[in-house]
Amino acid sequence: MSDLRLPAESAAIIERVDQFMDERLAAESLPESLDDAIRYALLAPGKRLRPLLVALSCQTCAGAIEDALPACMALECIHAFSLVHDDLPSMDDDDLRRGRPTLHIARGEAMAILAGDALMSLAFRALSTASAPADRQAALVGELSRGAMAMIEGQVYDTFGGLDRELSDQERLELIHRNKTGALIRAACRMGAICADAGDDRIGAMSRYGEAIGLMFQVVDDLLDVEQSTERAGKRTGKDQLAGKLTYPSVLGVEKARAVIDEQLEVAKASIAEFGPAGGSLADLADFLTVRTA
Ligand code: IPE
Ligand code: IPE
Ligand code: MG
Ligand code: MG
Ligand code: MG
Repeated sequence: MSDLRLPAESAAIIERVDQFMDERLAAESLPESLDDAIRYALLAPGKRLRPLLVALSCQTCAGAIEDALPACMALECIHAFSLVHDDLPSMDDDDLRRGRPTLHIARGEAMAILAGDALMSLAFRALSTASAPADRQAALVGELSRGAMAMIEGQVYDTFGGLDRELSDQERLELIHRNKTGALIRAACRMGAICADAGDDRIGAMSRYGEAIGLMFQVVDDLLDVEQSTERAGKRTGKDQLAGKLTYPSVLGVEKARAVIDEQLEVAKASIAEFGPAGGSLADLADFLTVRTA
């Protein structure tokens, strides 16, 4: 076991993000059943990796975390929507998420579909109601919509295949993972930099960091599906092979999948080297993501 941990400020950031999301939801005055379903999915005990990335990227670019909260919420809403729909019977058909019954098991399939729809809208609402300059708001909306579309595209490839037959299994796999998981993680890092009014070079550095840890994150997820217990992961494991999913361990084997993780970790750290000590938290977070157990 490694003793690598999340950066020290993570717990306080996550608490602030959850408080912000709770307040924003309360201000929506939604029908009780919808509010309940959204809260069940959004505020469940997940890692809050994407909001954490937004906040730390913003901080690394000398911005204030308070200015990044709407973007933090926006990313977590899209992520929560993607999980609710990913678990549906017609998708991965899962009954456990974040250590609890999935939303469609707890509240029914129709409500799970509707709550997912609502989370998608709430994401953009969080950005549009922020008191940020109009050009920043427009840039954030552009990043979020691009990330969300790529996630959906990746889910389509993951579910139906349909990728160019000329591509090797490994190329196909990389394309699926970069889209279904990597794109939102990349968007989180870029959006954090944008919240700090960073220039193109710094946004570019965050992009490269986000792309590397984004691919790495899904390779780790594939390995956890093979190696981790359901209890520890908080979701059913051992399912990818049964479902015939294209994963890193199934195509490359466990050892080569681990080598991809090491390689992407190096790329991630090199991408933020230019920030010097200010990039320390993002470097620590990348390290932690290689040894996470859930
Ligand atoms: C799970 O994401 C889905 C993938 C993209 C692999 P996370 O592992 O970030 O899930 P939570 O938010 O912690 O539940
Ligand atoms: C899902 O990938 C990525 C999403 C866009 C939600 P997985 O299907 O592997 O995620 P888990 O393992 O169910 O969390
Ligand atoms: Mg899936
Ligand atoms: Mg799944
Ligand atoms: Mg998985």
